[in-house]
Amino acid sequence: MSIKVINKIDELRETLKELRCESKSIGLVPTMGCLHAGHKSLIEKAHSLADITVVSVFVNPIQFCPGEDYDKYPRTLDDDKIAAESSGADIIFAPSVNEMYPNLQKFSDLTMVVPPYELTDIMCGKSRVGHFDGVETVVTKLFNIVQPDIACFGMKDIQQLFLIKKMVKDLNIPVEIISCPLVREASGLALSSRNKYLSDEDKKIALSLNKALNAIKQGYEIGIKDTKKLFDIGLTNLNKNVELEYLEFVNESNFRHTDEINKATICALAARVGNVRLIDNIVIEV
Ligand code: PAJ
Repeated sequence: MSIKVINKIDELRETLKELRCESKSIGLVPTMGCLHAGHKSLIEKAHSLADITVVSVFVNPIQFCPGEDYDKYPRTLDDDKIAAESSGADIIFAPSVNEMYPNLQKFSDLTMVVPPYELTDIMCGKSRVGHFDGVETVVTKLFNIVQPDIACFGMKDIQQLFLIKKMVKDLNIPVEIISCPLVREASGLALSSRNKYLSDEDKKIALSLNKALNAIKQGYEIGIKDTKKLFDIGLTNLNKNVELEYLEFVNESNFRHTDEINKATICALAARVGNVRLIDNIVIEV
């Protein structure tokens, strides 16, 4: 079956209803498009686990804060079709803003899914106020529209992944969330749709993000346990043109700050290179 692009919720529901009647399981990979090898790995994973793989491509306006890159976010549906199909997707769901949020005068009129404040007053949620409300709301809508058996999310957006797993548990949404590993360029740079904004010079500067995280992990492995010292090791390894937003140590099980590195501690950072905001993370001890 060659890939089908569906723009309307009703048509998608009808198509999936028929497939479900044939006892096909459904996998969903939510994306904002501009698909790269990171997204492709999620699609391949969904394809390996479910009979039918749906990839949603929707640049979700309600997860962008004022002044962020919503307008210039890369929209490349023709290329996305090729990338999704070659990774095993069967359907691309690419709705318009009006299809997802019909006749909405202002976004504050919308019923929202809001994660707990303590889990968003840290890392990306702290600077991108309301961002995760927008993410959880659109992901809930996608779950309700597609009703997938499984849905794949990347560890690249580690806070998003944690919050979605929690949301599914808290709200009893009947979907299994599959965590997929972070995919990097050979250089070590974490793949991101926003890498498109980076000049060659910026890319070299951005490499120091991964370098800093690796240096922290290595520091820990040679016996440095103090997070303040590890933080300083990270800073030393960041290129001087990187503007650091945060560098946090959190416990994977509750996503709270930790000074004690033990099983499954994540070190995550966000930083600006030029005007481009990038995120990256590493698991310090597995
Ligand atoms: P987007 O940034 O397009 O990412 C879609 C999915 O791809 C997310 O689960 C993200 O973690 C994963 N991903 C991105 N880069 C990756 C990489 N280098 N390695 C592994 N996985 C990677 O995240 C979003 O869109 C949106 O917030 C969305 C969930 C679609 C809601 O609008």
